[in-house]
Amino acid sequence: MTDTTNMTDATGTTQQELSPLPLDDAGAEALLDAHNPNPALQRHGRAVRGVMRHLARKCGTDPDWWGQVGLLHDLDYEQHPDEHCAVTPQLLRDAGYGEDFIHAVTSHGWGMCPDSPEPAMLMENYLYAADELAGLVNAAVLMRPDRSIYTIEPKSVRKKFKTKGFAVGVDRTVITAGCERLGIELNDLIADVIAGMREVAADIDLVGECERSTPDDSETEGGQ
Ligand SMILES: [Fe+2]
Repeated sequence: MTDTTNMTDATGTTQQELSPLPLDDAGAEALLDAHNPNPALQRHGRAVRGVMRHLARKCGTDPDWWGQVGLLHDLDYEQHPDEHCAVTPQLLRDAGYGEDFIHAVTSHGWGMCPDSPEPAMLMENYLYAADELAGLVNAAVLMRPDRSIYTIEPKSVRKKFKTKGFAVGVDRTVITAGCERLGIELNDLIADVIAGMREVAADIDLVGECERSTPDDSETEGGQ
C-alpha cells in the first residue's frame, strides 16, 4: 500500500506523497531472506519492521511503508558487509522501489557508511535511532532467564545501555544522537522499541517462556 498521507519531517517539512511499494510484505520478506540467509539478520529485519510499524501508527501514518523500510534497511549487509548501504540502492531499484524508499533505507547509515545521506524525514530519523536500539533490546532479552520480550521493561534496557561491556557492537552514540535529532527521551524510545518488538515476538523468536506481560524483576538483579 502506498502511504499518501502527509508526513512532517524532523525539521517541519511536509512530504506530500511516497512512491508505491512494488512488493507486499511477503514479497519484501522473500527479498530480504534471499540476500540474507543468516536467520539472525532475517530476525533483525523483522524486528525493525515491527518497531517501524508501531512508530508509524503512533505518528498517525500508514505502517506499511515505514515497515518495509525497517524490514529492508540492512538488505546488502550479509553479502556486502564492507559496502553496506552502497549495494542496497541497486538491489532495491531492481525490485522496483522508488528513490525516496532508497533514501530512507540508506539514511540509517549516515555517518557510518560512505555516501549514506543524512536522515531527513521523521521516518528516517526514527529508523536511524531505533535500529541499533533494537539490537540492544534483542541482546538484553536473550540474557533473561525467560528469553521473552514480553517481560522486559525499559528500565532494564536502560541499564544495559549504560553498561559499556554489554553488547559492545551496539553503537550507543548513534542512539543518543538519534534521540536528540527527534527531540525525544531515550526512555520513551526504548519503550516504543520494546512495544514494536512485542508485536512481532513470534517472528523474531522472542516469545520465550512467557506469552504475556508480567512485572519485570530485573531491577533486583544487581546494579550495572
Ligand atoms: Fe540494522
